[in-house]
Amino acid sequence: MNNESLKRELHQVLSSLKAYVKSDIEMKKPLLHLDLKKNPSVKPSTDKYPHILSENCPAPVSPVLTLEGIREEMGDCQRCLLCRHRKNLVFGEGNPKAALVFVGEAPGADEDMQGRPFVGRAGQLLTKIIAAMGLKRSDVYICNILKCRPPGNRNPKQDEIAACEPFLIKQLQAIKPKIICALGTFAAHTLLKTEVPITLVRGRFHTYQGIKLMPTYHPAYLLRNPEAKRLVWEDVQTIMKKL
Ligand code: URA
Repeated sequence: MNNESLKRELHQVLSSLKAYVKSDIEMKKPLLHLDLKKNPSVKPSTDKYPHILSENCPAPVSPVLTLEGIREEMGDCQRCLLCRHRKNLVFGEGNPKAALVFVGEAPGADEDMQGRPFVGRAGQLLTKIIAAMGLKRSDVYICNILKCRPPGNRNPKQDEIAACEPFLIKQLQAIKPKIICALGTFAAHTLLKTEVPITLVRGRFHTYQGIKLMPTYHPAYLLRNPEAKRLVWEDVQTIMKKL
């Protein structure tokens, strides 16, 4: 690995760690890695994070996360520059208690127009894949890493991911799915914090925050490479066996 890609990967890991810690602090979860009994040299500020000094305190009560609450918290999001170009923020849709969540990359032009995920050509193919699994779109939950369309469908940038990922983390914490299906390279790389090619990571379960995660090819890739449909079919059958 060269210096540049090492730097990129480190930057991504740090941004995500920041997102997790921020989300845990907001959820008032104790920061378990700061176990004061095991590590007395760590003296976090009690003013900033009063809930982490829990030796004499009752266990913290986490606020109940709901998708509505998370959407409300996003509001008219201006946390990155994508807000300037969007017509609609695409939060996600489906069953708030879904056992299976599909995570894509970012909204495209159709999704931006309608404010709904996966409604364009790639989305229609995803709907067919879901039907072939014996499910309806309303049985599962569908969302993206980014909630706003990158102009010209360019690849998402690090600062956009850092701004948006805490909301995806919260969505997954609220839904508590049994399985996440990461659609395409970008979703797989962002969730798994890896740059290993999708061809090598797809087809088997990984773990994301204690949840089983199956990476597979993005439906847009299947539109260009229909021969890969057979592999996606294998991947979703593996998911169905676990569900
Ligand atoms: N591609 C994605 O990754 N997400 C969408 O919502 C639509 C297309």
